[in-house]
Amino acid sequence: METRVLPPTEEAIAQAAALLQSGELVAFPTETVYGLGANALDPVAVPKIFAAKGRPSDNPLIVHVATPEAAEPLCHVDARAAMLMKRFWPGPLTLLLPKKPTIPDVTNAGLPSVALRMPDHPVALRLLAACGVPVAAPSANTSGRPSPTSAQHVYQDLQGRVPLILDGGICAVGLESTVLDLTVEPPTVVRPGGITVEMLLTVLPQVQVADSVMRPLRKDEKAVSPGMMYRHYAPRGQLTLVKGEANEVRAACRNLYAQAVTEGKKARVLAFEEHLRDYADCNTLSIGSLNRPETIAHELFAALRRMDDEGVDAMFCEAVETKGIGLAIMNRMCRAAAFHVVNV
Ligand code: TXA
Ligand code: MG
Repeated sequence: METRVLPPTEEAIAQAAALLQSGELVAFPTETVYGLGANALDPVAVPKIFAAKGRPSDNPLIVHVATPEAAEPLCHVDARAAMLMKRFWPGPLTLLLPKKPTIPDVTNAGLPSVALRMPDHPVALRLLAACGVPVAAPSANTSGRPSPTSAQHVYQDLQGRVPLILDGGICAVGLESTVLDLTVEPPTVVRPGGITVEMLLTVLPQVQVADSVMRPLRKDEKAVSPGMMYRHYAPRGQLTLVKGEANEVRAACRNLYAQAVTEGKKARVLAFEEHLRDYADCNTLSIGSLNRPETIAHELFAALRRMDDEGVDAMFCEAVETKGIGLAIMNRMCRAAAFHVVNV
């Protein structure tokens, strides 16, 4: 199959909408990461997503809608869900709600709940409006690789497996949406993202964070969000996170880096702008500013992919504080590191 990458002209959006309506796949930009979409109501189209990504079929998909009203035929929207939609949609918040029978089992892995989100990206919204159907879309990467934040990333992973990629430039947020489970009490964040716990608490009296967010699953443990079972966001080399008091962390990072170099490894320190000077004798890649953590979210996946492209074997990075967007950053970093964390 030939894969075309097109800028989001009226004509390209119309072609993409026609592909979705005829049961084909389209990759498209959202404000978080690129998605690989199919008609969520078409039980023949949706399995193509799993095949293209190499994704296990027991991992349910997020259904994207053009408006909050478009969610109503798909799930049961109570007053609390309506309030969250009003406050945070369009935006990087996915809500888990009791599903209606319209959702085929292939889309949500046969679960009683379905994940819904209205993305905050003009191309995604134009596409959803043009095709007139809800669009199931996971991140448009090969399963296990860092999520794509540019059309080039999607092309790298899915070339020959998807007929059309709409190129909407680089994603603003850079990490996937927050997934909030509204089928449990209190509402529980099963995946942290761009809508932070602090933001949710401006609307909800209580929010819980699933404890599996910051640790590996125990053997035989059932995942609250099936996506957390799999090795995720992983670069090919080994990422090591270093945690502890600021100055000691930097010394430890430098030592670990030097040791890796001595062992003949191609090593790199993923450093925050404010700390670049402390790593003057190391090969570094800047991954955003600690003072503006949203820049770290924006850079992270692209940096991990670049390390793959350059064939880096060993990467070292300081842990960040788990407040605000920092919780989502650490959640992804811990998974990318396969929970390889050094405490100093
Ligand atoms: O930002 C995003 O959410 C992106 C863009 C494309 O919208 N999409 C995305 O989809 O990240 P995906 O499939 O890579 O991640 C969806 C996550 C998975 O961890 C999945 O297990 C969980 O949401 N999920 C989806 N439906 C669920 C359900 N009914 N119950 C529990 N977890 C669910
Ligand atoms: Mg994903």
